[in-house]
Amino acid sequence: MMMLDGFELQTRWDEAFRAAVVAGLSRAQKSIPCCWLYDERGSELFNEITRLEEYYPTRAETEILLRWAGEMACFCGEDVLLFEYGAGAGIKTEILIEALDRPRLYVPIDIAGDVLAQTASRIRDRFPGLETLPIVADFNRDFELPADLPPGPRTAFFPGSTIGNLNRSETIAFLSRLHGHVEGRGTAIVGVDLKKDLGTLLTAYDDGAGVTAAFNLNLLARINRELDGDFPLDRFVHQARWNETESAVEMHLVSLDGRVVSVCGQQFAFREGETIHTESSRKYALDSFHSLAKTGGWRLSRAWLDEEDRFAVLGLEASP
Ligand code: AVI
Repeated sequence: MMMLDGFELQTRWDEAFRAAVVAGLSRAQKSIPCCWLYDERGSELFNEITRLEEYYPTRAETEILLRWAGEMACFCGEDVLLFEYGAGAGIKTEILIEALDRPRLYVPIDIAGDVLAQTASRIRDRFPGLETLPIVADFNRDFELPADLPPGPRTAFFPGSTIGNLNRSETIAFLSRLHGHVEGRGTAIVGVDLKKDLGTLLTAYDDGAGVTAAFNLNLLARINRELDGDFPLDRFVHQARWNETESAVEMHLVSLDGRVVSVCGQQFAFREGETIHTESSRKYALDSFHSLAKTGGWRLSRAWLDEEDRFAVLGLEASP
């Protein structure tokens, strides 16, 4: 395997950001993948979002875990190897680990080495007897787990409804990847946000205090800073809209005027009202998620819901 040092990794990351922005602003419907919302400031703002009254998913999922962790632990089995995709779910992971029966190994997986190190050290402090093996990897691409993992049942844990930020083919590819990681016979526990009334959905992505707007607009500030852009931040506004065909809340940045913006020395023209699509957050009915899961090699076995049926934590069993 080729190893890259920190400098080379950063250079590749910067280049990937530049390429994503230039390609995205060149499309008929301008769009930038949502992973680029999370620079340091973006991650801070996202943490703030999870504490907002309007943003129910984090509270609903935590409520489910607190109530059903015992059942989830039985579902995983004794001596389990727990793989977590996208470390940093914090309290949610701790609730599950606390309930598990003699977990053998915790494997947090994240592309951000610093986040991963913090997660691993927090879990080691809280559960000193639990062996922890952090892996730096982009879970949206294929990667191998170490061949010498201890024996035991395997569970893939993906809380946070981040699966909703993937499109259909990415979701199937991701679920197939998890299926490979549990060697075709383990389980998965996945957080999924459910379809509900539009008022609740749109308010969750356009809160009264403007935190989600700041989160979205921070992407333009990042482009200005890192890619020598000249977006006037006061002439773009945040918009949350519902896309019925995709069953998704979309975030857009709307240009208030016709203008030309320069990024990395290239010019991009905007019409008045034209938008950059920055995120889709898919909302599922249980049966539509089940049919996607089947295509990815899984059978929906359990669905744990919050009191108001807003959110589901799903127990999936790998089909052989
Ligand atoms: C990370 N992800 C699951 C969040 C979501 O709800 O799609 C990101 C987010 N975007 C705006 N608010 C929260």
